[in-house]
Amino acid sequence: RTRTTVSFPTQPGPMPTPAQRRRLEHAARAAAKKSYSPYSEFRVGAAILTESGRVYAGCNVENASYGLCNCAERTAIFTAAAEGERQIRAVVVYTPTKQPTLPCGACRQVINEFGPDAVVISVCDSDRRLETTLPELLPHAFGPKDLA
Ligand code: THU
Repeated sequence: RTRTTVSFPTQPGPMPTPAQRRRLEHAARAAAKKSYSPYSEFRVGAAILTESGRVYAGCNVENASYGLCNCAERTAIFTAAAEGERQIRAVVVYTPTKQPTLPCGACRQVINEFGPDAVVISVCDSDRRLETTLPELLPHAFGPKDLA
């Protein structure tokens, strides 16, 4: 019996360079200005670096039906995926707060699909920042490998 091998593009890839980090942070800060968040008034911007070296940004987009609100991280990731990107190397989240904000659980799962080894960086309006990785944020993740 022949078994089909399903392979997903999950190579870790190089760490983002200082110049790429600056680009990502700038894009995340700019994206937050476009946040549509009239209900929470919590503005979030995100930017992701893909394996192609491109940067995709997104903001949170809320809805009068609150459960349909979409986080900035997922807006950025779905935009990249719709452009054909399949590997995320880094995610930067910006919030205009004193403390940095890390991606919510749903976004961690979505990052895992395309960036199981992604670097995750949170920046805010103070000098505080967090830098971690997706496996730290979502250990023992369920992902494409479980369906292969
Ligand atoms: N939100 C994000 O966009 N990203 C996060 O990492 C945390 C939460 C959004 C969702 C909602 O629009 C608002 O922030 C309050 O939860």
